[in-house]
Amino acid sequence: MSSLFTLGSLIVGVPAGVFTTISGSQLISASQNPSFLTYFLTVPQVVRETYVTQIIKVNSNSETIIQNVPDEMATEIPRTMLLGFSNNNSVIKRLNKKKWKKQQVELFFDVIAVEGSTTELGGVNNLSSSVLQGFTCTTVRTVKKVQIKKLIKACRRRGNNKVLLAETQLTCMYNYIKADSDVTSFDLYPPDVLLYYDYTLVPRASCRSYFEQLADADFSVFSSALSYKRTALFNNARSCLGITNTSLTKDDIMVLGNMCCTLDGSYIENSDSSILEKLNNCPDLNDGQASAVQTLLLSGKTQYGVKTEKVPSTWNEQTLQDLGMLPLYMKSAFYDNFDKKTKRRFLKFFLKVLKKNGVGRRKKRMLKREIRKSIRNKAKRSIVNECTVGTITQVTISDDTFPFDYDDINQFNCCLSAATVQENLDAITTKVDQEEYLMIVLSKLQEAYAASSTIPEDQVQLLGPASRLATVDNINTWSITQIDTLSSLMDSSNGEWDPSLARAIISKYLSVAGNKLGSTELNTIGGANLCSLDVNVLKNISQQSLKEANALTVSNCTIEKKKELFNIAEQAFSGSTRATATLSSYQLTKTYLEGASLEYIKSLVSLNVSMDMAIFTSLQENVVLNLTVNEVKDLLGTNLPELKSYENETLVQTWVRSQLQSELDTLGIGINGGRANPTTTTKSPSTTTSTSSSTSTTTAGSGSSSSTTSTTTGNGTRIRADAGLSLLAVLALLIMSQHIVV
Ligand SMILES: *[C@@H]1O[C@H](CO)[C@@H](O)[C@H](O)[C@H]1NC(C)=O
Ligand SMILES: *[C@@H]1O[C@H](CO)[C@@H](O)[C@H](O)[C@H]1NC(C)=O
Ligand SMILES: *[C@@H]1O[C@H](CO)[C@@H](O)[C@H](O)[C@H]1NC(C)=O
Ligand SMILES: *[C@@H]1O[C@H](CO)[C@@H](O)[C@H](O)[C@H]1NC(C)=O
Ligand SMILES: *[C@@H]1O[C@H](CO)[C@@H](O)[C@H](O)[C@H]1NC(C)=O
Ligand SMILES: *[C@@H]1O[C@H](CO)[C@@H](O)[C@H](O)[C@H]1NC(C)=O
Ligand SMILES: *[C@@H]1O[C@H](CO)[C@@H](O)[C@H](O)[C@H]1NC(C)=O
Ligand SMILES: *[C@@H]1O[C@H](CO)[C@@H](O)[C@H](O)[C@H]1NC(C)=O
Ligand SMILES: *[C@@H]1O[C@H](CO)[C@@H](O)[C@H](O)[C@H]1NC(C)=O
Repeated sequence: MSSLFTLGSLIVGVPAGVFTTISGSQLISASQNPSFLTYFLTVPQVVRETYVTQIIKVNSNSETIIQNVPDEMATEIPRTMLLGFSNNNSVIKRLNKKKWKKQQVELFFDVIAVEGSTTELGGVNNLSSSVLQGFTCTTVRTVKKVQIKKLIKACRRRGNNKVLLAETQLTCMYNYIKADSDVTSFDLYPPDVLLYYDYTLVPRASCRSYFEQLADADFSVFSSALSYKRTALFNNARSCLGITNTSLTKDDIMVLGNMCCTLDGSYIENSDSSILEKLNNCPDLNDGQASAVQTLLLSGKTQYGVKTEKVPSTWNEQTLQDLGMLPLYMKSAFYDNFDKKTKRRFLKFFLKVLKKNGVGRRKKRMLKREIRKSIRNKAKRSIVNECTVGTITQVTISDDTFPFDYDDINQFNCCLSAATVQENLDAITTKVDQEEYLMIVLSKLQEAYAASSTIPEDQVQLLGPASRLATVDNINTWSITQIDTLSSLMDSSNGEWDPSLARAIISKYLSVAGNKLGSTELNTIGGANLCSLDVNVLKNISQQSLKEANALTVSNCTIEKKKELFNIAEQAFSGSTRATATLSSYQLTKTYLEGASLEYIKSLVSLNVSMDMAIFTSLQENVVLNLTVNEVKDLLGTNLPELKSYENETLVQTWVRSQLQSELDTLGIGINGGRANPTTTTKSPSTTTSTSSSTSTTTAGSGSSSSTTSTTTGNGTRIRADAGLSLLAVLALLIMSQHIVV
């Protein structure tokens, strides 16, 4: 054990298996050593997970666990171990100091977010951002309204402190504040909540200040189901700011802020060039936006200066550096304006910036491809089949920009020996991004081990992005017996896996005696790749494994596999304390509900779980269609108003069409398109009541955001009820149906 301390930074190379042989109590005392902990935080995630598992074995009481597991490693504590906390002062303080995943905090948010607890911490503003990300309609259901509003306001934080909230959390927050008198004090709330405001509540006189606050929001949080709201936001901004064409002024751009990230190319090309600074902050630019930025830059109308045929270039490396992130999106025609030396120096600088900002492989790949193209356009094509640029050695590879000088891929191929790949695989796969280059690396590696036709495990662990270019035949030559290898292959930062290849890898791992789909494997593989396995293999996952695993996203599985995983999850999370733990069991089972049975969903109705619409619309269609209006109402709880936002989703429409309009009207959210009352029902009193509620919708619109302009008759035909005449027609029809009954 003491040898672990002496390893220092070498600890990174220790396989997970070693830690399973060290007792948890030794690991607990080791983690009290600050320098050990610093090194340890750089080890692969699977090793950290194993470490935490060992610590938990010492004592599995939840309050002891949070005492024993270091703050930075709390993300590895299984969710089921985070139940039943008391609101004891020292427990609250500890929870608040630790680093959490959203799916973990949700399980104890109700303990830490209540007034008693936040008072002990010195107020809601002393809650950590890591804890605040646990706010959901489900987790605040027992919290007092006054406190909920304080929590929402406390989520207004910037920069590294920003509380990361998903769409369903933001819409939930909005529903809690929308009726408040200070709802239009836009600077009290997180900018992202403003994305979901009902614009009719924004007074015309203060619309500008609304958009000024909205400028800081993250416009990429919209799901595809609600992306129509993003479009509406810009239309409203146009009318508020008096924008009538695609030429935005400096002032418009300042007010719009991050909304500029949603604009299409025509705005970018025609607007004040200050739009470039806004675009520089966008998480991503689409092709149309990128090419508009390039056009604008090449036009010479920006502060970055002119470059034309006649005027000598004023563009240099500094220009590129000043462009911030924008060079990531430029094409070769842009890079044609710089000489090779400048591009090389810039790349050296830019790669460091990209690393600091955590820019992924995909974007780096695009950048390198375009720069290379701009060099290749000028270079003479060589047809020699010998290395003329220089043999690739360890020194060549150590250059930050490697393989920049091998812009001729033919040269890369000729100058790289199988032995060099064998000896420097790690450094090569860290630096080489482009697929056609990685392909060569992979085949040279294969060549190096041709004699044994087996790639040893320590090399497989270093394949990185090259692994994604393998064939099933390649994979068959890889040695995959340890969890560390499986884990490095499944690292999602190297790209997604083709399902057939993922299956080949996981199957190879599972074919080794003693290996199984335990919780560590499940976390390593993740939901999407798990879906590549046969349902028979999934059946073999034990309840215990699923119970201790992260919340897996199963959206990419077939319905058969979803059902299988749900069955295991339902049993795993119901446990022995079924009577008391049902709300937590819902939270634990949440991500598996796409495969849930009608029976299970019905059992949630009385629990006040406040299911969000993202989950509701992912349930099986035959399950949703068997839910009554009242059941849906109770299931959605405080999320009910969101049903209206999703009214044009196919599943919701199908469900609505099979409900009685009179019952839909009782929801009071303006949902139309239901069936008219049956004309052949037995009791007339019930028909009478539903008739009256039906008519009231056409006139009142019952306080909901959108006024009701249509209603439904006999067989689902919509009749516009905005003119008095057609309103009469509706009434006449309803009265006629009365007559038939009576
Ligand atoms: C709070 O919990 C700690 C240990 O977690 C314990 O030592 C302390 O006595 C508890 N305090 C109260 C008031 O329950
Ligand atoms: C709450 O936060 C404030 C400001 O960061 C700090 O000064 C204060 O000590 C905190 N209160 C407690 C009880 O920790
Ligand atoms: C765009 O509209 C603004 C204000 O309505 C106007 O001042 C400007 O001249 C217009 N620009 C173009 C190119 O039409
Ligand atoms: C799920 O499948 C879709 C389409 O097949 C794909 O685009 C997406 O990346 C997959 N998701 C994951 C997490 O692999
Ligand atoms: C399920 O697990 C058992 C025992 O671990 C094993 O013998 C069997 O082959 C597995 N079945 C599948 C389909 O993987
Ligand atoms: C659900 O909410 C209703 C109304 O607020 C309440 O009467 C009922 O007791 C709650 N049920 C549970 C299980 O909390
Ligand atoms: C839902 O109801 C239909 C009949 O309306 C029935 O055929 C079907 O089996 C039900 N689905 C489930 C999951 O119970
Ligand atoms: C649904 O579609 C209808 C008809 O196109 C439209 O009037 C309505 O506003 C849409 N609802 C939402 C919430 O977008
Ligand atoms: C509705 O019913 C009427 C009369 O039964 C029929 O003429 C009409 O075609 C039906 N409309 C639709 C959309 O089914």
